[in-house]
Amino acid sequence: MTAIQLAPSILAADFSRLGEQVAQAEKAGADRIHVDVMDGHFVPNISFGAPIIESVRRMTRLPLETHLMISDPDFFIDEFVQAGSDSFLVHWEGNNNLHRTVQRIKGLSKKVGVVINPATPAVVLEEILPDLDTVLVMTVNPGFGHQHFVRTTLPKIRRVRQMIEQTNPQCELELDGGIDADTAPLGVAAGANVLVAGSAIFGDDAGVTAAMDRLRTAAEEAVN
Ligand code: DX5
Ligand code: ZN
Repeated sequence: MTAIQLAPSILAADFSRLGEQVAQAEKAGADRIHVDVMDGHFVPNISFGAPIIESVRRMTRLPLETHLMISDPDFFIDEFVQAGSDSFLVHWEGNNNLHRTVQRIKGLSKKVGVVINPATPAVVLEEILPDLDTVLVMTVNPGFGHQHFVRTTLPKIRRVRQMIEQTNPQCELELDGGIDADTAPLGVAAGANVLVAGSAIFGDDAGVTAAMDRLRTAAEEAVN
């Protein structure tokens, strides 16, 4: 059975208690922490930059994956590596030199994933897939937390799983956006093995631990 990895996104955390919330997620069995960097240009929202990664780095031993929703990601990679990022998720959209970006990250001995938005077809991954540690399929349009899971991405998730099995079986298939105990099983059944969740983990009144247990149980029941 493939274990499902959970990546809590701190975008939905209470920033006045960020250390506490990250520690709770780690204790509840988070596999990595997902850090959403937005520049107000690549997506219509601004989040945070390297100083927050530096702080989170001091709070946890978990791997920090940095989802770059920014124009010209190449300009910022060194800064985020310095701040403590262990892996990067870079978008296919808007990057005319994706191969260069991917090689640059690998050259710094960091893991790399390519992200595709809901309207971007799986086929764009074909040539870059052998170089990747992760493919991330956005299950919402990037920019905001707490949006609805876009169900029309499910056939694409299945297609990406097939491509991975054929050309790079070690590659992870990660989903991001609108993941909760109802949608996680759909994504896992379609072939995902890593799930990002923000509001379903940090926005649940039952608390981070209960929310993560619920999500993990729902996701693992769908493993085929
Ligand atoms: C959206 C971000 C997500 C976001 C997910 O652009 O990439 O990582 O934090 O939030 P939820 O889980 O609330 O949809
Ligand atoms: Zn994200």
